[in-house]
Amino acid sequence: MEEKPPTKKPPRPKVTPKKTTSPKSKAQKDTRKPVVELTDIHRSFPGPTPVLALRGVDLIVRTGDYVSIMGPSGSGKSTLLNVLGLLDAPTIGSYRLAGIETVGMADGERTQLRGQYLGFVFQSFHLLPQRTVLDNVLLGMAYSGIPRGERQDRAEEALEQVGVSHRAGFYPTTLSGGERQRVAVARATATHPAVLLADEPTGNLDEGTSRGVLDIFDELSQQGLTVILVSHDPDVAGRANRQVVMSEGKLSEVTS
Ligand SMILES: Nc1ncnc2c1ncn2[C@@H]1O[C@H](COP(=O)(O)OP(=O)(O)OP(=O)(O)O)[C@@H](O)[C@H]1O
Ligand SMILES: [Mg+2]
Repeated sequence: MEEKPPTKKPPRPKVTPKKTTSPKSKAQKDTRKPVVELTDIHRSFPGPTPVLALRGVDLIVRTGDYVSIMGPSGSGKSTLLNVLGLLDAPTIGSYRLAGIETVGMADGERTQLRGQYLGFVFQSFHLLPQRTVLDNVLLGMAYSGIPRGERQDRAEEALEQVGVSHRAGFYPTTLSGGERQRVAVARATATHPAVLLADEPTGNLDEGTSRGVLDIFDELSQQGLTVILVSHDPDVAGRANRQVVMSEGKLSEVTS
């Protein structure tokens, strides 16, 4: 049986093909989502002699990047990391975290955003000495938005991943430096942050212990976590797959 011809005129086929990017430019384009976007960040510290610690920093970090920030003492590395960690605000500039503009936000909002998107590891661990290892990790989830009922499991899982679950009931003062830093990493990652920030995380550790902690950073990076790490040490910085250098408040990319 013959089909009836359609009553409506079919749409005219498009004759001009949609313009596409050439394979070359497509290959070069990084399509991963930017998680950190800094634009023209300045940070000055007022005083009798004002210090211009950051002088126009631009930086885009994409999901899954492992970036190290090197540079001499006083070049602005920690200032930059504190801005990235929402612990400090820039004097001028734009900082978008996961697409959200953070500059001009109220303190409460910044705290929420920090709790949901960021994990921070410091050189000197910053664990609460009066609380057990497990409590330290649980306290790190205070502003994470993670339901209370899930926190214990998350904390135990994070401690397991860094190899210190057998120390869950211990107090930080009874742990070795390497163990303390592992706990600090667990505290920072238990929330499953979008970005893990670390300021000289191996600065207080001996070489062997440092390697163990850096192996954990490698593993987290391989699992897809975005990591931004500050270090003086070229061996530590060399673990990252992208390196940038701070010099007198300005940042430049290291190209190999
Ligand atoms: N709160 C502050 N008040 C005044 N000046 C500050 C403050 N914090 C940092 N600075 C100054 O800003 C500059 C950059 O400091 P920052 O701590 O970022 O350097 P850094 O690269 O981390 O150095 P280091 O490798 O020694 O840790 C320095 O000149 C420092 O003295
Ligand atoms: Mg510093």
